[in-house]
Amino acid sequence: MRTIGIDAVALAVPEHYLELADLAAARGVPASKYVDGIGCLRMAIAAPHEDAVALAANAAARVLARSGRSPSEIGLCVVGTETGVDHSKSIAAFLHGMLGLSPRCRIFETKQACFGGTAGLLAAAEWLRAGDDPDRVALVVASDTARYELGSPAEPTQGAGAVALLVSSAPRLVELEVGVSGAFAADVDDFWRPIHDKEGIVPDGHYANDCYLAALTGATRAWQDACRARGLGTRLDRTCYHVPYGKMARKAHRHRLAAEGIDAAAADAAFAREVAPSLWLPSLVGNTYAASLYFALASLLDRERAAVEGERVGLYSYGSGSAAELFAGRVVVGAGAFIAALEIATPLEERRRLTVADYEAIRRVDLEVDRAPYGSIQPPARAAARGVTYLGVQAGRRVYSNERAPVRAQRRA
Ligand SMILES: CC(C)(COP(=O)(O)OP(=O)(O)OC[C@H]1O[C@@H](n2cnc3c(N)ncnc32)[C@H](O)[C@@H]1OP(=O)(O)O)[C@@H](O)C(=O)NCCC(=O)NCCS
Repeated sequence: MRTIGIDAVALAVPEHYLELADLAAARGVPASKYVDGIGCLRMAIAAPHEDAVALAANAAARVLARSGRSPSEIGLCVVGTETGVDHSKSIAAFLHGMLGLSPRCRIFETKQACFGGTAGLLAAAEWLRAGDDPDRVALVVASDTARYELGSPAEPTQGAGAVALLVSSAPRLVELEVGVSGAFAADVDDFWRPIHDKEGIVPDGHYANDCYLAALTGATRAWQDACRARGLGTRLDRTCYHVPYGKMARKAHRHRLAAEGIDAAAADAAFAREVAPSLWLPSLVGNTYAASLYFALASLLDRERAAVEGERVGLYSYGSGSAAELFAGRVVVGAGAFIAALEIATPLEERRRLTVADYEAIRRVDLEVDRAPYGSIQPPARAAARGVTYLGVQAGRRVYSNERAPVRAQRRA
């Protein structure tokens, strides 16, 4: 059977971040609650010119450039997001123009809360398996900006960012076990974001955690059954979890190992090797919703490099509402050197620290950003130099800094 998996990865993050210790001081909370209790050091703050399209475009352009792939090789482009910008036009359609993808490329967007990126990745892997062309390459991007009400318990778990993955039949990073997957779904109200509302609603974060863990139980059982049916073992060397905040991954690992009869102390000891390396980037960026699991995978690969080669990695994706899936892949020999060459963490090195007052000012203008007239959003010159920026709405249409086609007359003035 053909090898299918993740060939390359690249990230995009907003230019600004907030130290959670600064936010804790402003909210009158001990910094240790956010840093140790929740497991986050910094959260990325998207400025008005950094929407989910711009972040996706910048991650996608970077993965093509760093991997040496050409836009003409991409036969499928899927974007997973829960903070898309249009009911109709997919972010994949924006990327098609911005990247110069082939007119023969299949494009669409996937949504199911934080599961959207995984829906895209699994669709891409199955698309590769279904075709008879071993040179097919898919571009899967997960891109989101996570916002909650200022002062709410969820506020320290915001974030923003995008991950772009190339999926191919000659993967240089992770060979996926395509078709061996454990899905779990339930209709629950643990998180949602109504249309025209930029802030997500977590009615009770503790209930959301319970839904995440219940889905993990269901997905794990389904995955174990799928493995046994194919004569595969169920041992995982490492596990990457969806990371709404770092502590959730620790709770998840304890929960999964408890089902195998392993107590909390032993699970925490295993966590240090099996999970902790995956939490490096999420702890610096915050919740990136659909992209979060892939920030975790990128962290594991970059932190561990040659040490993780040949190991079997579990990937647990959870999207509120809810859909979950557990699946696995094996890190390819040589991935350590390749991930080093991809320089995935470089975008984080160029960030600037915000004050809490600056962060709150961004949040105030952010509420109106989807109706901002073209010209009213003026990104700093350095932002334009870093990549695509959102510039506002002209004649009812969102305008970006690297448009290939001129703005056409629209029906609304
Ligand atoms: C996670 C969340 C529920 C925490 O909010 P909260 O009710 O204010 O926080 P808690 O009082 O439960 O404290 C959080 C943790 O910090 C710990 N903590 C509190 N104060 C602390 C301190 N000073 N030092 C160290 N730890 C501290 C608590 O013991 C708790 O740890 P535990 O979870 O291991 O029990 C909230 O941030 C949230 O709703 N986040 C969004 C959740 C989400 O996105 N869920 C989606 C699942 S996909």
